[in-house]
Amino acid sequence: MKFSQSLIAIITLALVITFGNAYDPSPLQDFCVAVKSLNNGVFVNGKFCKDPKQAKADDFFFSGLNKAGNTNNDVKSNVTTVNVDQIPGLNTMGISLVRIDYAPYGQNPPHTHPRATEILVLIEGTLYVGFVSSNQDNNRLFAKILHPGDVFVFPIGMIHFQVNIGKIPAVAFAGLSSQNAGVITIANTVFGSKPPINPEILSQAFQLDANVVKDLEVKFASKK
Ligand SMILES: *[C@@H]1O[C@H](CO)[C@@H](O)[C@H](O)[C@H]1NC(C)=O
Repeated sequence: MKFSQSLIAIITLALVITFGNAYDPSPLQDFCVAVKSLNNGVFVNGKFCKDPKQAKADDFFFSGLNKAGNTNNDVKSNVTTVNVDQIPGLNTMGISLVRIDYAPYGQNPPHTHPRATEILVLIEGTLYVGFVSSNQDNNRLFAKILHPGDVFVFPIGMIHFQVNIGKIPAVAFAGLSSQNAGVITIANTVFGSKPPINPEILSQAFQLDANVVKDLEVKFASKK
């Protein structure tokens, strides 16, 4: 190999190592169970960590994902989250889990996870799912109909949704590549900000009548 080629190889390797670790870094120890106060703790990745010797099985345990969330709401779906807030042992692990219940014709409305890719498996029912790629990729819609056992991936940052197109409730589970994936629900975020964004701004942005925007802002102001 010529000198210039080996230099390029070394630089490429260095870039892979650097950017490969850009998020979800190695925990650097077996575990780092999150604790709320700095009692026998050290501060790592935004949380205090328990002294590893004090860690116990319950720090890595959650019970209740067999139970359906209550879908009696406007979008007829419910996400039960199992992240670092429910399992302190997930701290620094770069992974978490959700259960999603959908009433017949319910939906998990368009949203994005700022910190995670999502891999979803459908257990019961029929879902129409999709994500939209970025402006650079011409906002292409990638969509599929899922049946039980089918798996679909929503890449990090992409706006995505799931709709129950069946007559029976649907149940899915999804893994997320962050201990705290975050959720930005598009409609709630844009129309339900506190304080509201000036309706004229949204009217121009979404090419909607200002009164429609005002209605939407009133509707979403009351939502969490
Ligand atoms: C989801 O279900 C849980 C458990 O039934 C309930 O406490 C919660 O209010 C529900 N969330 C929504 C948004 O309906």
